[in-house]
Amino acid sequence: MLLDVQGLTITYGRNTACDAVDLTVGAGEIVTVLGANGAGKTSLLRGLQGAVPAAGGKIVFDGVDMTRLAPAARVKAGMVLVPEGRQIFVSMTVHDNLLMGAYLRSDAGGVQADIEAIYDRFPNLASRRDALASVLSGGEQQMLAVGRALVGRPRLMMLDEPSLGLSPLFVGKLFELIADLNSHGLGILLVEQNTTMALEVAARGYVLELGRVVAADTAEALSRDAALTEAYLGH
Ligand SMILES: Nc1ncnc2c1ncn2[C@@H]1O[C@H](COP(=O)(O)OP(=O)(O)OP(=O)(O)O)[C@@H](O)[C@H]1O
Ligand SMILES: [Mg+2]
Repeated sequence: MLLDVQGLTITYGRNTACDAVDLTVGAGEIVTVLGANGAGKTSLLRGLQGAVPAAGGKIVFDGVDMTRLAPAARVKAGMVLVPEGRQIFVSMTVHDNLLMGAYLRSDAGGVQADIEAIYDRFPNLASRRDALASVLSGGEQQMLAVGRALVGRPRLMMLDEPSLGLSPLFVGKLFELIADLNSHGLGILLVEQNTTMALEVAARGYVLELGRVVAADTAEALSRDAALTEAYLGH
């Protein structure tokens, strides 16, 4: 198992955002986490990233207990988050944003090669490598955020609502990208409100409600469950 989360609890003061969540992601698997606004999806990812400490439970990545490790150690182990709202540095160039993804690497040559590979994959970024990231469209900024994460050489990429605010064209491109990265062996934990697309690309999914897992099944079974989508996903 690439990621094995057992009973993870995330709290903010007296509020419990994630309540004893059990979740796994296999090596090279795409797993989606669905749930309405406030269900605890971002809190789950921030707990996995280490931005918020676990109030209970365990996070095991590739057999190593990450629960008490700092965010940087988790990135170094291969767990990388593409955060909600992209969080790119708009006053820095596209190229410097990509370099930020390599902040824990010391192999400059390897980093350069990885960035060139990202430019090959995203020509829109290549042609703007020296421009400020603020000139990119929303979709291009999302590609930059994914590119920056890839420069960290992840084995598990966690994405928090990557399709939010993108045009249908870019949403399609984004999901193609996710499938393609996965076909090269990258494990993916995908938080989405675009339930239909997420269940199409994922092998399995979890549904969160008020911080609890209320359903966990294959993507196929979840998409067939109309009552579930109505009750918890708001449509
Ligand atoms: N920094 C914080 N301090 C206090 N409470 C928070 C904080 N962040 C989130 N919460 C609360 O935790 C709960 C879960 O929020 P979270 O952002 O994880 O939900 P979400 O599923 O990501 O929602 P959305 O779909 O709107 O992004 C909510 O009740 C929210 O108000
Ligand atoms: Mg969120």
